[in-house]
Amino acid sequence: MDLFEYQAKYLFGEHEVPVVPGEVVTTPEMAAEVAGKIGTTVVVKAQVKTGGRGKAGGVKLATNPDEAANHAKNILGMDIKGHTVHRVLVTEAAEIADEYYVSFLLDRAERAFLAMASVEGGVEIEEVAATNPEALAKIRVDAIEGVDAARAAQIVEAANFPAEVAEQVAVVLQKLWDVMIREDATLVEVNPLVKTPDGTVLALDGKVTLDGNADYRHANHADLVDTSSIDPIELRARDLDLNYVKLDGEVGIVGNGAGLVMSTLDVVAYAGEDFGGVEPANFLDIGGGASAEVMANGLDIVLNDPSVRAVFVNVFGGITACDAVANGIVGALNMLAEKGESVTKPIVCRIDGNNAAEGRRILQEAEHDVIELVETMDGAARRVAELAGS
Ligand SMILES: Nc1ncnc2c1ncn2[C@@H]1O[C@H](COP(=O)(O)OP(=O)(O)O)[C@@H](O)[C@H]1O
Ligand SMILES: [Mg+2]
Repeated sequence: MDLFEYQAKYLFGEHEVPVVPGEVVTTPEMAAEVAGKIGTTVVVKAQVKTGGRGKAGGVKLATNPDEAANHAKNILGMDIKGHTVHRVLVTEAAEIADEYYVSFLLDRAERAFLAMASVEGGVEIEEVAATNPEALAKIRVDAIEGVDAARAAQIVEAANFPAEVAEQVAVVLQKLWDVMIREDATLVEVNPLVKTPDGTVLALDGKVTLDGNADYRHANHADLVDTSSIDPIELRARDLDLNYVKLDGEVGIVGNGAGLVMSTLDVVAYAGEDFGGVEPANFLDIGGGASAEVMANGLDIVLNDPSVRAVFVNVFGGITACDAVANGIVGALNMLAEKGESVTKPIVCRIDGNNAAEGRRILQEAEHDVIELVETMDGAARRVAELAGS
């Protein structure tokens, strides 16, 4: 999970990386209030998960609260590389004498970490790497040894940091390494790390990517998830532990196994060309053990998507045999009926594989008028496309 700058800086603060004070806000009035509280010249910064905000006009200096409000008004709602700005960070403006670059990242191919540093910060680091590769020091960091004082000094020397900041930068590197390891990040980047005219080193920008596989070790990381940019149906599916992705079409898809669901999307899109160009409305893999409850949750999510006009349940019985899946579908419809959600959208089912005949018999005998059985995957795709297209 990528973090916003303000979240990255919150973690920096927790690990004693030097940052300037600031607060994230969502309205011009709040921006003025924070600017007043800070009391000095401030910077109003767009909070979007992409770089180049400065160039795009998303980072502005303000010398008083009114100016801060005005900048916030212009920046909120701005589109930066396809990201809409919903929040701005109002933070103390630092005086800048020099801009540097430092980062740690996971180097999977080397089974190690990589430290990168340059005294040519501020500009995009890809540019430094392309035009002046010697200016970007790259030092391997062993996963067990980490960044101790000696390794930090080595990075500082390799990047040619000036003597007057060498010690401070070495300390900052060790603190950033704490962020990397203690927060289970795969990337920690500061661009720019600056030197102020009085010689203080500060992190003015921050980019952190957390390793989702380690979320169980960090109860506080759940608070960093940005729910405002997630589709509400996806959010509900996530709460139910379902592997769901919202798409643009009209045919709801429920299948077991990611590969099967991917090919189901293809056959539905292909069949849909003959019926006014209908397309899949979602990806949903309910996994191997399709219990009635999981099937009910899946169908519930898909049927409640207002853009869905017909549903394709495509199941290949394996370890969980087709009769169990069929009972799951029937049980799911009963559970939904009990919840008062009577199902009116047509559901085309294709069940094949282990114990298919028994599975089909169960569905036929249930005599649900929304369920339609089709023997083949292509045939079912055609039928569901026809229903959704009409
Ligand atoms: N708190 C600050 N005080 C002074 N200047 C800043 C501050 N924050 C950012 N800047 C300036 O704005 C530039 C762009 O900001 P930055 O946070 O790096 O955004 P991005 O990398 O998305 O362009 C920085 O290189 C720096 O020169
Ligand atoms: Mg930056």
